[in-house]
Amino acid sequence: MKSHIGGLLLLLGLGLPALAQTPPEKPPEIPATQTAPAAPVTPAAEPAKSEEPAALPACSDCHADQAKTFGANAHAHGKVKKGEVPNALCESCHGDGKAHIEGGGDKEKIYKPVGVAGANKTCLACHDISTDRISRHAGMHANSAAVNCLTCHSIHASEPHAPHLIVKKQLALCDSCHMTQVSSFRNKPYAHHLGRGGMECSSCHEPHGRPGAESLRTTSAGEAPCLACHADKRGPFVFQHGAIAAGSCTTCHEPHGSSNPKRLKRATVAQLCIECHSPIGSANIGSQPPSFHNLSSPRYQNCTTCHVAIHGSNRDPQLLK
Ligand code: HEC
Ligand code: HEC
Ligand code: HEC
Ligand code: HEC
Ligand code: HEC
Ligand code: HEC
Ligand code: HEC
Ligand code: HEC
Ligand code: HEC
Ligand code: HEC
Repeated sequence: MKSHIGGLLLLLGLGLPALAQTPPEKPPEIPATQTAPAAPVTPAAEPAKSEEPAALPACSDCHADQAKTFGANAHAHGKVKKGEVPNALCESCHGDGKAHIEGGGDKEKIYKPVGVAGANKTCLACHDISTDRISRHAGMHANSAAVNCLTCHSIHASEPHAPHLIVKKQLALCDSCHMTQVSSFRNKPYAHHLGRGGMECSSCHEPHGRPGAESLRTTSAGEAPCLACHADKRGPFVFQHGAIAAGSCTTCHEPHGSSNPKRLKRATVAQLCIECHSPIGSANIGSQPPSFHNLSSPRYQNCTTCHVAIHGSNRDPQLLK
């Protein structure tokens, strides 16, 4: 009996003009009083059993909002022709829509990917390729109730001015969970300028990357992300500064912005250098400055006025040029 009503609804639906996304208060329906008794299955009601099945209405007939923008979605690539959205495309995420359509748009009869369950079932069905960039199961933002594909991405309601279907502009997106880092970029006087169309958090971090090492991007040679842009600091130098050979850029620089010029970790250059080049203290890992360096004299406090090639030199072992 149910299916007969469905069939009738379907016929009715076919005769209707395309519904707007928000369907009328009452979906098209036949008053119950009329349907129940007076619905004999005329041959006309099920005409196509043996021949071609009657075409179902298109998803786009009723969901104009989702359909009209879909041509620009990466998921529609090459599949939307002359504005026609094939049902199969919508069904690649929503599953078979036949029962939903025959039910006149019955909400209970169509699948909508939501939350971590939706991300696991739907998004990972296609995106679970095991490259380092896309380690979706083991990533630092691996699918959980708190953070999953659908907290950061939306298929139909993404931020129009941001790439890759993200729900908000990237700085605002990351800010919803990592306020400390974002406010550091915003408030510290010496910081990279993010969110202005150039650099983003993802210039240094791979949001889908593996945990540990803060999921930093590396250059193709496996170096710190900084070198992708600051290639002049890469070397190789004939005389490498031991600090760089030993550690990374963040031994001396604050990646999220600093109160100190050149984004240094310490307020003065001398403080920074003395942490490793100290005449006192036994834990120093660099050589001691020679004794003519009178550290109480202002002349010697800005070490880089003389040691100008602080990142490495091809000419001078003392990094003086
Ligand atoms: C790549 C997967 C995918 C494809 C393809 C897709 N959808 Fe969706 N759809 C979703 C997800 C995920 C949601 C949940 C809301 C969101 O993320 O935007 C959704 C939600 C919806 C909703 C509910 C509206 C809401 O805001 O909750 C409708 C209606 C819908 N989709 C219709 C369609 C139609 C029509 C098509 C074909 C033009 C389509 N979808 C193609 C993934 C998809
Ligand atoms: C005859 C009109 C009609 C057709 C055709 C139609 N839908 Fe719907 N759809 C509706 C109505 C009505 C709703 C309920 C809207 C509501 O309650 O907000 C709905 C709801 C949905 C939802 C949201 C479900 C939820 O849980 O919120 C999705 C997803 C959806 N449709 C996808 C599709 C897809 C995919 C197709 C094509 C295979 C399709 N629809 C074809 C009328 C239709
Ligand atoms: C049926 C397979 C399939 C499903 C299911 C699917 N995707 Fe995709 N997705 C693709 C393909 C194919 C591309 C395009 C890749 C390309 O153009 O290189 C893509 C591209 C993307 C992009 C990049 C968009 C851009 O503009 O760069 C994002 C983000 C994305 N998908 C997220 C999702 C999310 C979130 C889900 C779960 C709701 C999902 N996908 C479900 C196949 C799928
Ligand atoms: C913490 C937020 C976040 C989560 C969680 C997330 N993404 Fe992304 N995704 C992003 C951002 C930001 C970008 C853009 C990165 C860029 O510009 O390089 C992106 C880009 C993409 C792209 C296009 C570029 C690429 O790397 O291929 C795809 C595809 C994608 N995401 C799919 C997914 C899928 C599938 C999931 C769930 C397993 C997911 N994302 C989870 C934030 C997230
Ligand atoms: C919905 C909340 C949420 C959003 C949005 C989010 N993150 Fe995360 N992020 C987390 C959680 C939870 C963890 C893992 C727990 C932890 O170590 O703090 C994490 C971990 C990280 C880590 C590794 C931290 C470490 O100590 O190793 C980095 C880096 C990171 N996120 C960057 C980003 C970037 C960049 C964005 C924006 C593209 C972003 N996150 C968006 C919740 C979020
Ligand atoms: C210039 C490169 C760069 C940019 C841009 C960047 N980060 Fe980082 N981030 C790093 C480095 C490097 C570390 C490792 C910390 C260290 O070595 O001191 C890190 C560490 C982190 C951590 C781990 C906790 C911590 O503070 O050490 C989180 C979370 C994080 N970043 C989030 C973000 C977010 C969110 C953004 C965007 C607002 C962002 N990062 C932008 C380079 C960057
Ligand atoms: C996407 C490219 C890019 C990446 C990655 C990047 N930077 Fe930069 N950096 C710039 C640009 C452009 C400037 C100059 C504009 C500005 O101040 O933001 C700059 C400026 C700087 C300055 C200040 C220069 C001055 O004269 O005051 C320092 C220090 C610096 N970066 C260090 C780093 C470190 C350390 C990393 C890695 C954690 C890094 N950068 C990653 C592009 C980048
Ligand atoms: C031993 C500490 C130290 C390390 C490690 C270090 N820097 Fe620096 N860096 C400095 C100092 C000190 C200055 C300021 C020089 C001055 O006073 O003019 C500076 C200045 C800079 C500047 C701005 C001035 C210029 O020369 O362009 C950039 C950009 C920079 N560093 C990038 C990097 C990158 C990228 C790395 C990692 C490869 C790195 N630094 C590692 C100490 C260091
Ligand atoms: C993280 C520790 C560290 C920091 C900070 C550091 N250095 Fe070094 N520096 C080293 C190491 C290690 C060497 C390698 C030679 C050694 O063991 O003495 C070195 C070598 C040098 C040399 C070459 C002389 C030699 O013996 O090879 C000079 C000059 C120098 N550093 C100056 C500076 C200045 C100036 C600063 C501050 C801007 C600074 N260093 C910050 C660790 C550091
Ligand atoms: C007025 C210029 C000047 C200033 C300022 C200066 N240095 Fe030097 N530094 C030199 C010269 C010249 C040498 C080489 C001495 C030699 O060849 O014996 C040297 C050598 C060194 C060496 C290498 C010692 C060795 O065993 O080869 C270190 C380490 C060093 N300086 C650290 C520092 C630190 C740290 C500061 C800041 C607190 C600093 N210098 C400030 C001129 C300066």
